[in-house]
Amino acid sequence: MKMLITGGTGQLGRAFSELTNIADVQLFSFSSRELNVTDTQQIRTIFNQIRPDAVIHAGAFTAVDAAESQADAAFKVNVTGTRNIAAACLHYSSKLIYISTDYVFDGKSSHPYTEFDQPNPLNIYGRSKLEGEKIAARICPRLYIVRTSWLYGLGHNFIHTILKLAKEREFLTIVNDQIGSPTNSLDLAQGIMTLVHTWDYGTYHMSNKGQCTWHEFAREIVRLTGQSVDIRPISTAELALPAARPAYSVLRNYMLELAGGDYFRSWQEGLQDYIKK
Ligand SMILES: NC(=O)c1ccc[n+]([C@@H]2O[C@H](COP(=O)([O-])OP(=O)(O)OC[C@H]3O[C@@H](n4cnc5c(N)ncnc54)[C@H](OP(=O)(O)O)[C@@H]3O)[C@@H](O)[C@H]2O)c1
Repeated sequence: MKMLITGGTGQLGRAFSELTNIADVQLFSFSSRELNVTDTQQIRTIFNQIRPDAVIHAGAFTAVDAAESQADAAFKVNVTGTRNIAAACLHYSSKLIYISTDYVFDGKSSHPYTEFDQPNPLNIYGRSKLEGEKIAARICPRLYIVRTSWLYGLGHNFIHTILKLAKEREFLTIVNDQIGSPTNSLDLAQGIMTLVHTWDYGTYHMSNKGQCTWHEFAREIVRLTGQSVDIRPISTAELALPAARPAYSVLRNYMLELAGGDYFRSWQEGLQDYIKK
């Protein structure tokens, strides 16, 4: 299987090249400079060369706060860019895996969100990703939408930030009123790889199991790495960030459950593995 990856330099994009059990897959991974999803000429040239069987569309405008003041840029990449990739997939009969987010939900639920719950994004980033889902679904028949949450992997992420600050500061203040499921990008890449070998098109939630606040996540990172920094809880309101965030965005991998079993491990196990490496 020839598999093209957009956003190949991102946390998820990089995870695919770490997978070891993909002998039947030839990966073609691109940075935004090599394959800018807003550049239809570049897309045509690359799709014509590779003729991919499947496309993992992980490239996105992911700066949640910046999106509030750069809505056009976020929509251009996350909606128009997704349209461009979906159209190329239609033309070359490629399967499309569009990576989406827990931020499509408003966080007002009291139970983990399934694929059948109604999205209602609170911020521009979430809106643009949801519109990306819709435009992909209108164009590409062989589509899997994969929503994930609180992703970490190679590159800049929350874990690195906590470990760096833990060395520099006496205490850290971390938000304790947002609840989600931290997800190891390698686990997600493995889940996507399994899915793409099926014909089971549709929308999927793929996150590590369980839930925590950012504060609990930070405490576990510090505990596992044997640091001793004091981590104090604060509220989202105290941070006063430009973008609103869902207070509760735990995803239930319900479509996987219906298909025979949710094979994702707990967020604690995913984190432990990441830290060991
Ligand atoms: N991080 C999370 O917590 C999280 C949670 C839920 C869902 N997601 C979704 O998961 C996917 C992967 O996220 P991530 O954390 O791996 O992202 P990331 O580390 O922030 O990387 C973003 C990637 O998108 C690429 N990109 C940006 N603009 C592009 C453009 N115009 N054309 C092509 N590529 C472009 C970047 O390329 P360059 O580096 O070359 O600029 C980079 O490779 C995204 O779709 C994101 O919306 C992420």
